[in-house]
Amino acid sequence: MTRATITGLGTAVGNKVITNHDLAAVLDTSDEWIVERTGIHERRVGGSCLELGGQAARIALKEAEMDASDLDLIICATCTPDQVFPAVSNRLQEDLGAACGAFDLNAACSGFTYAISLAQAQISAGMERVLVVGVDTLSRFTDWDDRSTAILFGDGAGAVVMEPARRDDRGVLSTYMGSEGRFADLLTCDFGDYIRMDGKEVFRQAVRVMVSASRRVLADAGLEPSDVTVVIPHQANLRIIESAMKRLGIPLGKAATVIEVTGNTSSASIPLAMGAAVSKSGIADGDVVLLVGFGAGMSVAAALLRWGR
Ligand code: UT7
Repeated sequence: MTRATITGLGTAVGNKVITNHDLAAVLDTSDEWIVERTGIHERRVGGSCLELGGQAARIALKEAEMDASDLDLIICATCTPDQVFPAVSNRLQEDLGAACGAFDLNAACSGFTYAISLAQAQISAGMERVLVVGVDTLSRFTDWDDRSTAILFGDGAGAVVMEPARRDDRGVLSTYMGSEGRFADLLTCDFGDYIRMDGKEVFRQAVRVMVSASRRVLADAGLEPSDVTVVIPHQANLRIIESAMKRLGIPLGKAATVIEVTGNTSSASIPLAMGAAVSKSGIADGDVVLLVGFGAGMSVAAALLRWGR
């Protein structure tokens, strides 16, 4: 089987910084409470999905040394598109100067990892250059007067270019896509409304599904938790990440995080954390990288990759 591997990575965040202190000035909350319960210090807001996604995609294409006109497919994971239709990916295709097929995918905060799975499938079926974008602008759907949600969300984008790996032990090793519709009412956003959620229950279910999806992709690849070099989890709450890592038996130091400065950016959170991991300590050739996302639905997805061409 041809494996897809990441050959370019780009990120972008909203240009306005909102700190916990800014929120504490207008809401009944405090920097201390937010940091202790979520790990978030500040979040970035602003920009459309097209603007943020385009910015991230251009950086990823440049790193992959690829012209957009050579792309075979654009998959954009988002649950906050700029319009009901056309798709963000369709606008991106024109904006970047690509001539390929393009579609959006909504699996809430699991969207980016779902898209990695689909890119792998297309590359194993013969495509050669797939752009995967994860972008969300949750600030547009946040009730900034509601302290239980306003503290959590931000806007951002991450993009990766995926191509067939040159070595057959590099690239995507295994993937998993899950959905547990019985939990759909825990986290919702109706047309014309704001994000509503049962935070405590989302927290509980999130840890459970992250752990089970991670174990599944590890088992499918014949690997153990101790083989994982870097975990790149969805950035919803640092305590969710800590609990999941503990249950998986993987040291917390192996988890990439960016939530401290971005808040929860939904489909963008995993590529943003990947970007942070690459610039902080680097991800080395041969490293085993576990992506694991969860979100409204509950949706859940994991992908295991061996880094390198
Ligand atoms: O992509 C997925 C998106 N969503 C999530 O992942 C959400 C997962 N859940 C969470 O992150 C956490 O449940 C929250 C951070 C949302 C809340 O933390 P918690 O530890 O579950 O707090 P809680 O909801 O149980 O609230 C505890 C107390 C309550 O007061 P009482 O009833 O004990 O008097 C809340 O009213 O904290 C109060 N509270 C706040 N206090 C200060 C809730 N929000 C705030 C706030 N500042 N911002």
